[in-house]
Amino acid sequence: MADAGVIRNRLKTQDLPAGASRPGPGKEVPMSSVSCPVDLDTQKLHNAVHDMYTRVATEPDGDFHFHRGPEYATRALGYDPDELAALPERSTRSFAGVGNPHAIATVRPGETVLDIGSGAGTDLLLAARRVGPRGRAIGVDMTESMRETCREGAREAGLANVEVRDGDIHDLPVEDMSVDVVISNGVLNLAHDKRVAFAEAFRALRPGGRLQLADIVVKEELSDSIRRDYELWAT
Ligand SMILES: C[S@@+](CC[C@H](N)C(=O)[O-])C[C@H]1O[C@@H](n2cnc3c(N)ncnc32)[C@H](O)[C@@H]1O
Repeated sequence: MADAGVIRNRLKTQDLPAGASRPGPGKEVPMSSVSCPVDLDTQKLHNAVHDMYTRVATEPDGDFHFHRGPEYATRALGYDPDELAALPERSTRSFAGVGNPHAIATVRPGETVLDIGSGAGTDLLLAARRVGPRGRAIGVDMTESMRETCREGAREAGLANVEVRDGDIHDLPVEDMSVDVVISNGVLNLAHDKRVAFAEAFRALRPGGRLQLADIVVKEELSDSIRRDYELWAT
């Protein structure tokens, strides 16, 4: 166990894949638990995550190990109830975030925002409202039902500046240095290779761009049986 129970690691700039934008000469990107220290069948994990979030998109009131929905988002995560009430219910009902990336900083009119693991679109639609018609809000998600729910939500909200792409956060379908802000809410803990996922987010950011991430950090070493439990990974 490293660093008094916290798995700490540092992503050095030389570790980034060729072509990834660099945080700056000699700079390190502080990372927590950047990789999965077990042999994981990544296809099996992908399938477990896909099945779990298909269910969140299609049966948001079903039985899950984690919280969902607008009441949870306002009570526990500090979202503005009026702002959420103004979004389509189909999007907010399937909200499954763990924090509030918009509480970190305000996205500004005219900016391009990329939401990785955008799900049913709560944060993406809020971003689209904030950047306005001169800005863009691009969501990437691997689960078709989530993408469809998000697109329907954007249509219902009349947000023409929203685009939802099919893709994986380990290989983002986004040009290098094309976005001002990367936001995410609850997806990095699901990534089998956090080093690659962070490098992809940096690649997408313009110089001076920002990361506004909400996620789960585990402060204790997890047992091998927990690490090997695909359903727990997927929640
Ligand atoms: C915990 S949910 C959060 C969704 C959304 N950010 C929210 O706050 O409601 C995680 C989302 O990330 C997507 N996801 C998980 N792993 C992914 C990956 N490797 N690439 C792209 N999307 C992924 C899932 O399909 C799901 O929609």
